[in-house]
Amino acid sequence: MKTYLVTGAAGFIGANFVKYMLKKHTDIKIVILDKLTYAGNLGTIKDEIKDERVEFFKGDICNIELVENIFTKNEIDYVINFAAESHVDRSIENPRIFLETNILGTQTLLDAAKKNWSIGKDKNGYPIYKKDKKFHHVSTDEVYGSLKKDYDKPIELKLDMKVKKIVEDRKNLQTYGTEMFTEKTPLDPRSPYSSAKASSDMIVMAYGETYHFPFNITRCSNNYGPYHFPEKLIPLIIKNILGGKKLPVYGKGDNVRDWLYVEDHCKAIDMVVSNGIPGEIYNVGGFNEEKNINIVKLTIDSILNLMKKNIEYQQVLKTDLKNINYDLITYVGDRLGHDARYAIDPTKIVTELGWYPETPFTEGIEKTIIWYLENQDWVDSVVSGDYQKYYDEMYGKR
Ligand SMILES: NC(=O)c1ccc[n+]([C@@H]2O[C@H](COP(=O)([O-])OP(=O)(O)OC[C@H]3O[C@@H](n4cnc5c(N)ncnc54)[C@H](O)[C@@H]3O)[C@@H](O)[C@H]2O)c1
Repeated sequence: MKTYLVTGAAGFIGANFVKYMLKKHTDIKIVILDKLTYAGNLGTIKDEIKDERVEFFKGDICNIELVENIFTKNEIDYVINFAAESHVDRSIENPRIFLETNILGTQTLLDAAKKNWSIGKDKNGYPIYKKDKKFHHVSTDEVYGSLKKDYDKPIELKLDMKVKKIVEDRKNLQTYGTEMFTEKTPLDPRSPYSSAKASSDMIVMAYGETYHFPFNITRCSNNYGPYHFPEKLIPLIIKNILGGKKLPVYGKGDNVRDWLYVEDHCKAIDMVVSNGIPGEIYNVGGFNEEKNINIVKLTIDSILNLMKKNIEYQQVLKTDLKNINYDLITYVGDRLGHDARYAIDPTKIVTELGWYPETPFTEGIEKTIIWYLENQDWVDSVVSGDYQKYYDEMYGKR
């Protein structure tokens, strides 16, 4: 049996990962460490923390004593580090917390893992570690900076034959540029968020080099799917459309992002943890490059389709169906230093590990919208902060 320490598991991707892993593997233990910031909601994993395979700790990854304690009480095999301050806009307002959590928190976890996994030294003085231990750091495509948008309208994305064979059921792939981020692209972060993430990547890599510490890093594109806090583009847009509210779009909505369905991402992490070569970095992309404005329009179209196909969903609407149209879109002043384009080349993980992003955007967005339509209680609770109270009810008196 393997024991995973999953940090940040009450957040969007971490929660999806825990759900994915518990469904997929019976013989595992998951220890969760989460500070339950505004982005962490225990209600999201309320069923999972009742599972006897799961143990939950509320706490900060920067807390050396707590992290040490978790390692001494549990024989941790893998650390999966999701915990981070993750919202670019917030990092522009208040960079410091991003540096503390994303850099010092990661270093605290690294130190505890290194100490508890070391069993001696080799003849050159490098630590020797217990067998099959690994630190998996979840990073982002934003560490690579920004790519040029070469085309205003997308062109066909031409894939290498080896990749094409594995990805054969994904059709009509497109790109807005001639270049994509590979694992060899130099780090060139632009925002306080991405700088803090790049710093944490570099400290993980430094432990690999200096202490021969076993790690993997995955760098993924924008995730979307269930349990996404409604401050990020897609869940915010869905929430506002259902409420008949304006849809704020930065600048002209021309910025291009690649979109990865969260379950595909969870699968990638699971595969890298099991089969990734220690010391390697893997880019995880969705083959769904699109302009923000088109993402908003596709989301409107998809909601309209679903409402017409299944009239019961209209009960969720706080506005008349006829008010749902592109007129809801409102352009707002651009984000400071807004990166023009991100595009991930996932050739390495596709060809070396056989993973590929199975979900085309049109399918993923429909699944995501249906989830939001059927889980309005969750949205109301996270927005109102009720799930913060949930923690006090569950653990407050213990
Ligand atoms: N969401 C995306 O599209 C995306 C894309 C690329 C990379 N990532 C990376 O994936 C990871 C998870 O992202 P997410 O969108 O799920 O984030 P999120 O903001 O939804 O969740 C972050 C979680 O970490 C917890 N946390 C924050 N500070 C903590 C601390 N000091 N100690 C312990 N827990 C703490 C929060 O309570 C929350 O549960 C992050 O490292 C992020 O940089 C996310």
